[in-house]
Amino acid sequence: MKTRLLVALLALASSFAQAGGDARAGAEKSAVCAACHGADFNTPVSADIPLLAGQYPDYLARALADYKSGARKNPIMSGQTEPLSAKDIEDISVYIGGLPGKLKSIPLQRFLSSN
Ligand code: HEC
Repeated sequence: MKTRLLVALLALASSFAQAGGDARAGAEKSAVCAACHGADFNTPVSADIPLLAGQYPDYLARALADYKSGARKNPIMSGQTEPLSAKDIEDISVYIGGLPGKLKSIPLQRFLSSN
């Protein structure tokens, strides 16, 4: 019984490790993205380009997958994501999400009272 639980936990742990992506590979793969989003992904070249540094990796991965599939429509980003594999998206998302950035979440209470 104990062994079975241990095996299940190890399987779960290794599936998390696989889903983690490779930040070092992501740094190389995202070099092209820096042209617009900024080398630190925190200083985009124009105001209509979003800050990405420090964003949740699963948010980034979802956004990139949605541009690629067409679920989220933007001509620039659909072109940028077209050549990316699922692994590229994981690696890039883990890298950019790990960078120090200006993005912050607003506590729900403060958000509600300001509206
Ligand atoms: C030519 C300029 C340009 C390049 C190059 C570019 N982006 Fe973008 N990116 C944009 C613009 C503009 C938007 C806003 C699109 C929209 O309104 O949905 C955007 C949006 C995004 C978003 C959504 C952010 C959010 O808050 O929802 C992500 C993630 C992203 N880009 C990642 C990347 C990655 C990764 C690459 C490289 C593979 C890349 N971008 C290359 C211009 C660019």
